[in-house]
Amino acid sequence: MKRLLSGITPTGELHIGHYIGAITHFIEMQKSYESFVFVADLHSLTVNPDPKELKENIRKMVGVYLACGLDPKQTCLFNQSENIYHPMLSWALECNSYMGELSRMTQYKEKSQNKQSESVTCGLFTYPVLMASDILIYDADVVPVGGDQKQHVELTRNIAERFNNKYGTTFKIPNPVIAESGARIMDLQNPNKKMSKSDENPKGVIFLLEDIQKARKKIMSAVTDSDNVIKYDVANKPGISNLITIYSCLTNENIDNVEEAFANASYGEFKTKVADEVEKLLQNIQTKYNEIIKGDYIDNVLDEGLKRAEKIAKEKAYDVYKKLGVGRY
Ligand code: TYM
Repeated sequence: MKRLLSGITPTGELHIGHYIGAITHFIEMQKSYESFVFVADLHSLTVNPDPKELKENIRKMVGVYLACGLDPKQTCLFNQSENIYHPMLSWALECNSYMGELSRMTQYKEKSQNKQSESVTCGLFTYPVLMASDILIYDADVVPVGGDQKQHVELTRNIAERFNNKYGTTFKIPNPVIAESGARIMDLQNPNKKMSKSDENPKGVIFLLEDIQKARKKIMSAVTDSDNVIKYDVANKPGISNLITIYSCLTNENIDNVEEAFANASYGEFKTKVADEVEKLLQNIQTKYNEIIKGDYIDNVLDEGLKRAEKIAKEKAYDVYKKLGVGRY
């Protein structure tokens, strides 16, 4: 069975972009892949979050993963920081990665833009190498991600190929899996910008655990154009195109069919239908989440997941250190 690996950073709360761009694919693919899905809590440290909030978000993330349909019998679920072999491999890969290639990462450039270098952490710069370690340590075949992570998976491939050439075949070369539709859900208030948990304007983001009536209002007040034609045209009609994408992904209807079905509808009528689908989704996730979060189910799942993940990761990390000539591995 081929292997799948992916993760989400628990900085802030999960939103509908995470759900459509990543989580739905984890769930769909867990049936046919040996799956490893984790909470990328070490990646959160790159922006120095509040420790108490981070702890809460980690638990919430696991609860949401499970509520969305990740099945611990099919998917190995764990916290990245508890698996010490990830940072162990990351150091070895950092010493085989170059400042030049990391400086070209667009996400780093965006996140460090307009900031004094004194306030940009070294972790933010080396973050893609830790991500490469997360992937390579499991010999993952596929990495389902949203469009913004493609460059990081490509870097991972380069790091792996370079290491294999220098030290002998060690890593499998992973492939990113990026859906044609929904790989970039946009902000509802600024549809030229990706929906993001670190958004200054929460009106543009639908959080999976938020109040459902609030979420409906956000859809109803999403920014659109004024020509009242429901047509998918990202360049000229980014707001309505984003709502069409959300509707299409939540209903599994293709975009042509959505356009056809709403050819005579007003924006208000269409937004109501999108809000209905969002309500259904949030209702379903939140009902399950409220059950899952009680008791020690989450801890049991994480303990089991860690045991399995650790075994595989340890073997790869030791193999790499042995090849590099350090220690007595
Ligand atoms: P993160 O936490 O920013 O996002 C997690 C996943 O959600 C996708 N995503 C979106 N997809 C569509 N529209 C959006 N608006 C949207 N926002 C986020 C992201 O593309 C991603 O797939 N570095 C990673 C976490 C990570 C990881 C890994 C991922 C760490 N190690 C190894 C895969 C493999 C990150 O910060 O994603």
